[in-house]
Amino acid sequence: MRDGQASYTSRFVLFLRALMTNSPETHIFHDPVAERLLSPLGRRLTHRRWVYRLMARGFRRQPQQLGFMATILLRARFGEDELARAIDTQCVRQYVILGAGWDTFAWRRPDLMDRLTVFELDHPATQQAKRDRLAREGFPAPDNLVFVPIDFTTQSIGVRLQECGFDPALPTFVNWMGVTYYLPKAVVEGVFRELHTLCAGGVSVAFDYADAGLRAYVDSRSASFQSRWRRRLMERVLRQVGEPFRSLLDAKTLPAWCAALGYELKQNLSSKQLRDYLPPEQMGPFVPRGLVYLALAHSQAHVA
Ligand SMILES: C[S@@+](CC[C@H](N)C(=O)[O-])C[C@H]1O[C@@H](n2cnc3c(N)ncnc32)[C@H](O)[C@@H]1O
Repeated sequence: MRDGQASYTSRFVLFLRALMTNSPETHIFHDPVAERLLSPLGRRLTHRRWVYRLMARGFRRQPQQLGFMATILLRARFGEDELARAIDTQCVRQYVILGAGWDTFAWRRPDLMDRLTVFELDHPATQQAKRDRLAREGFPAPDNLVFVPIDFTTQSIGVRLQECGFDPALPTFVNWMGVTYYLPKAVVEGVFRELHTLCAGGVSVAFDYADAGLRAYVDSRSASFQSRWRRRLMERVLRQVGEPFRSLLDAKTLPAWCAALGYELKQNLSSKQLRDYLPPEQMGPFVPRGLVYLALAHSQAHVA
């Protein structure tokens, strides 16, 4: 992230969630609040059928692009499905969203307001942009939401959470979707370690990551010219907006990697496995592809 510049990728995710919520044929993640956070132009575009058709049908010959969008929507669904399970089975009382971007959970779930404290952690510039938009729209934050500005690369998540009222003794669920690839691997490991040490009441972390095989695939001859070209274009765009990929994790060794950080890996779903996550009629044309995985790791309660 560039100093003082809000994330562009998180705005794209917000637009996609709003667009797909209004779609007639894709029901992966329902986010009726998303469009209220868009600019007036973005809001209008999410109601234009041609925009949806362009994204869903225009990319028919580019399944990788559809797969990439499918994964963005599925990660939102997976994170909240696992949260619901954890609330039921582990009596989770704190929900921490790392790199929350334009997440709307706190506004969509007033029914959980008296049972769950939500902590939205994000880069100060992105969080401020969101808060400015909320203020402009006259859209107040619910009482159970705590905003925590943080730069993961320079600040301690343990310190920032405790400064903002986090209770380490309560069972906690962490949603860390769409962020690990933008951080150096040492920072990703540091955040996992700090959460494990801090959360004496136990913590589950739902996260996604790009597999280390991605680099080899992009450089290999087995990748088509088109997919190598697309990947390079995407890398270039991400560099231009100040959000380049910085780390990849290894799906094969992920259980051992998690264990070394104090976690048991409970789920590690490849895009192939994610194709069965929902019935085809809910996925529509969006079939997950590529080397992004959705994972869930759990660290037991321990004496602080
Ligand atoms: C692609 S968005 C993901 C948004 C959302 N979590 C999702 O699943 O779609 C990446 C988010 O990571 C945040 N981020 C990137 N680098 C960060 C850093 N060094 N410290 C804090 N947040 C960071 C950005 O501000 C942005 O909100």
